[in-house]
Amino acid sequence: MNQYQKVTEMYRSHPLSNSLRSLRHRPYFRSVLYGCLVLFSIYVLYNFVNHTSSVTLYSSSDPFSGDLGENYVLADETPADVWLGRAKSVKLAFLHGYHGYERYAQPHDELRPLSNDYRDNFNGWGVTMYDSLDTMLLMGLENEYNRAIPFLEKTVFTLPDGEFAPFFETVIRYLGGLLSAYSLRKDDILLKRADELAEKLDHVFATSSGLPLFGVNPNGQVVGPEIGILAEIASLQIEYTTLAKFTGKKRWWDRANTVIQALDKADLHKTGGMFPVRWNLTSAQPFDTHLSVGAQADSSHEYLLKQYLLTAKTDKANLIMYLRATTHILAELLYLSPKRHLLYVTDTTFSTNEQRGRPSHTFEHLSCFLPGLLALGVHILPLDDLTSLGIDLNEIGNESMFGRSGKSYKLLAGYNLKALHMWAAEGLAQTCWLSYADMPTGLGPDEMVMHTVGDDRWGNTVDGFKEGGGYLWMDAIEKWKGSGARGAPPGVGDKTPIIYSEAERLRGSGRARDYSIRKSGYLLRPETLESLYLLWRTTGNNKWRDRGWKIFESIERHTKTPSGYASLRTVEVLPAVKDDDMPSYFFAETLKYLYLMFIDTDPVPLDEWVFNTEAHPLPVIEWSQAEKGAFHIQ
Ligand SMILES: *[C@@H]1O[C@H](CO)[C@@H](O)[C@H](O)[C@H]1NC(C)=O
Ligand SMILES: *[C@@H]1O[C@H](CO)[C@@H](O)[C@H](O)[C@H]1NC(C)=O
Repeated sequence: MNQYQKVTEMYRSHPLSNSLRSLRHRPYFRSVLYGCLVLFSIYVLYNFVNHTSSVTLYSSSDPFSGDLGENYVLADETPADVWLGRAKSVKLAFLHGYHGYERYAQPHDELRPLSNDYRDNFNGWGVTMYDSLDTMLLMGLENEYNRAIPFLEKTVFTLPDGEFAPFFETVIRYLGGLLSAYSLRKDDILLKRADELAEKLDHVFATSSGLPLFGVNPNGQVVGPEIGILAEIASLQIEYTTLAKFTGKKRWWDRANTVIQALDKADLHKTGGMFPVRWNLTSAQPFDTHLSVGAQADSSHEYLLKQYLLTAKTDKANLIMYLRATTHILAELLYLSPKRHLLYVTDTTFSTNEQRGRPSHTFEHLSCFLPGLLALGVHILPLDDLTSLGIDLNEIGNESMFGRSGKSYKLLAGYNLKALHMWAAEGLAQTCWLSYADMPTGLGPDEMVMHTVGDDRWGNTVDGFKEGGGYLWMDAIEKWKGSGARGAPPGVGDKTPIIYSEAERLRGSGRARDYSIRKSGYLLRPETLESLYLLWRTTGNNKWRDRGWKIFESIERHTKTPSGYASLRTVEVLPAVKDDDMPSYFFAETLKYLYLMFIDTDPVPLDEWVFNTEAHPLPVIEWSQAEKGAFHIQ
C-alpha cells in the first residue's frame, strides 16, 4: 500500500466516514456529500502545505514535552484515600491466595485453586513461597514472611536422578526471589540459600561458550540441546551480577559477564543488530534469523537495558545492544491494524535469501511487557541526546554492518528518539489494555492474530506523519471539527472498546475489532499490568492507573475461588470458565505491580531499583575500586 492508499484507508475507517457511508445511497445526500468532500479536500491540502514547512517537532534539540498533545496528562479525580483502599484490596487478595497456598500446598510448588490439590512443576522446592517473599516485605506482611523462613531453611535443593531444574525459570523465580528479599531485609539466611542454590545449578554452564544449557540436576547431570533458546541463555545477568555483589565471589560475575561478552560479539548482520531466538551454544553464535519479543525471547531484550541500569549506567555495551534491538523492533516489528489502528509488535522469520522477514502478525500477551520497557528507557535514558553518552545511532548500525536492515538506523536517527520510543510505548500499552477492555470478562487473551492490509509497518506510517508535519488526514478532520488539538501520532490515541455480545461472538462477526483470538485463556499473567505500572510511574498520567484498577476488579470478579485465584480457560464468555491453576508469578508480579500502582509511596524507585523479569526488585550497584580490581571490571 502506498502512502496515498494508506491515508485513504485511514480516512475511510474514521468514525465520521462511517456515518457518511450510511447516507450515501440517498441521491439527495450524494450531491451534497460530494460537494462537501471537494471543499474538505481543498482544506486538507491547504493544511498539509501549511504545516510541512513550519513544524520542527522532530529536530533532535526539540524538547519532548507536549509531543503527545495537550490532553496528555489528566488530573486524577480519584481521592487519595480511595487509592489507599484499593491498595488494601490488593493486599487482601494476596493474603487470600497465599493463605490458600499455605493451607493446602506448602511446601510444594503451586496450589491448584479449584481442587485444593498441589503440584510440583518447578522442582518441588516451594516456588510460590520463594516467588512471594519480596512482595510480602513490600506489603508489610511480617507474619507470612516469618512463617516462610523455617520452610526456606529446610528446603533441600536436590532432584531425583533423571529430573532437571529448568535453569531459566529457577534463576528468575528462586534466585531472583531470594536476592530481592535479601535486598529488602538483610536476613543472612536469604543470601546463604541464594549462594547455595547457584552452586547447585553451576554445572549448567558446562558448554564451550559458557552459555547455560536448558536444565541441570544438582547432582551434576545436565540436559539440553546444542541449540539453545535466547530467553533461556540470556536472562541471568542481573541476578548473577547481584549475587556477585552480595557474596563478593568473582565466579558469579564471570557467569554474567560471559553471557554479556557473547551477546556483544555475536554476528548479527542478518538480523539488523537484534538477537534471534536460537543460538548455537558451542560457537555462541546465532543459529537462525527468527526474531521475537514474545515467548522464548522477551526477557533477554529486557535485560540489555536492565543490566545497564543495574550497573549504575556504567556498562555501555549493554546500552548499545538495547538501542540496536529497539531500533530494529521499532522499524521492522511494529505494525498497525487496518481499521482501529491498533499498534502491535509481532515476530518474524527471515529466510536465507530474503532480507525482510515475513511477519506472523500474532500478538502475544507476553509481548505486553515491551511498552513498559520502552517507557522505562524513555524515563531514564537521554534518548534525545545520545551524543552526551558518546553514541551516534548511525555509527552503532548502518548498511555496511547489517545490510538492508541497517537502514533502520538512518531512519530512526532522523527522529527525536525520546518521542518515538514514547509513542511506541503509549500505542502498544493502549492495544494491550484494549485487548482486556474488549472482552466481556475485562481480562485479555493470551494470543491474538491481528488483521492486516498490505505492509502496515508502523515505521512507514510514522514517516508519513512526520513528513506531514504531525498531521494525518484524520487529524485534519479533528481540526475541522473544531477541536484544534494536534492529533496523536499513528496508533497512539485512546480507542473505544468493542465488546461483542454472545450472539455476535457465535456468529463470528470478527472484523470490527481488527483481530481474532488464537489462545483465549487468561493465565493471571502480569505483562499488561507491568506496563500500566511503568507508564503511570514514568508519565504521571492517571489513566494507566485507572485501567490497572479495572483489571484488578475483573480479576476479583472472575478468577477468585474459595482458596485462591484461578487462570481462566477463556476470557470470551460469561460466566468465566476457570482452570485448576494458580501460577507463582501471580504473587511475584501481578499483585505486586497492582499494589505498587495504588500505594501513595514508592518503596522501589526506578532509578534505584531494577526489576528482574519476575518482578523481583534488585538494587542498583556501584562497584568499589576493590571489586573492580578483583572482578577485572573495566
Ligand atoms: C555449532 O557450532 C559448532 C562450532 O562452530 C559446530 O561444529 C556445530 O556443528 C554447530 N552445531 C549446529 C547444530 O549447527
Ligand atoms: C558504518 O559504521 C561503521 C562503524 O561505525 C563505520 O566504520 C562505517 O564507515 C559506516 N558505514 C557507513 C556506510 O556509514
